[in-house]
Amino acid sequence: MSHPYQDHYFHRAKKERYLARAVYKLQEIQNKHRLLRQGDRVLDLGAAPGSWMQLTSRIVGPKGLVVGVDLQPITHPFPEHVVTWQKDIFDEDFLGLLETRYGPFDVVLSDMAPKTSGVKSADAARSELLFERALEVARHVLRPGGHFLAKIFQGDAFHTLLATVKHSFRRVKVVKPDASRKQSREIYVLAMDFKGTNG
Ligand SMILES: C[S@@+](CC[C@H](N)C(=O)[O-])C[C@H]1O[C@@H](n2cnc3c(N)ncnc32)[C@H](O)[C@@H]1O
Repeated sequence: MSHPYQDHYFHRAKKERYLARAVYKLQEIQNKHRLLRQGDRVLDLGAAPGSWMQLTSRIVGPKGLVVGVDLQPITHPFPEHVVTWQKDIFDEDFLGLLETRYGPFDVVLSDMAPKTSGVKSADAARSELLFERALEVARHVLRPGGHFLAKIFQGDAFHTLLATVKHSFRRVKVVKPDASRKQSREIYVLAMDFKGTNG
């Protein structure tokens, strides 16, 4: 008998040579909302092991750029228009380095998740902190009109955070892709058309 987590998407990812089943969540959102375009400069926060980077680098193509950041090293060999960076997004020098080395971006993605403890409220609180930081990063490095997609485990701060996102983006949606496990509290906030830092 297969492990319960080794579901349809797990097997499909193996067969299609993706590094993780997570790719199907992004693919579904992409098919429906056309978040990524050829030539885009994309920042991927929490990018390891790299399945979102595999899909994103194919969509943006060699005229685009994908910068993947994670606490963990990313060892998969990627084409030249992909940069991987082992870094904690909470590091004090992160924003400054990111801006000067690679900014601005057309799209900021975050699939970041905390190490889960099993205590739902604690896990949600940590996820909300990651989301809040991803939003802060996006507001610094996105060009006006750019897009933001980020995962969050819904907890007490969710509605306040959503309201904050709505301040900065013209079109905001909450999405739960089919590839996201039903029993998990994770959802994605899709925020399109950034108003810009003065917006
Ligand atoms: C669900 S995985 C991402 C999977 C990825 N989207 C893919 O398709 O391969 C979440 C990642 O967030 C990363 N992460 C969590 N906290 C982070 C932090 N403070 N800075 C950078 N990355 C972080 C974890 O190390 C983990 O690799």
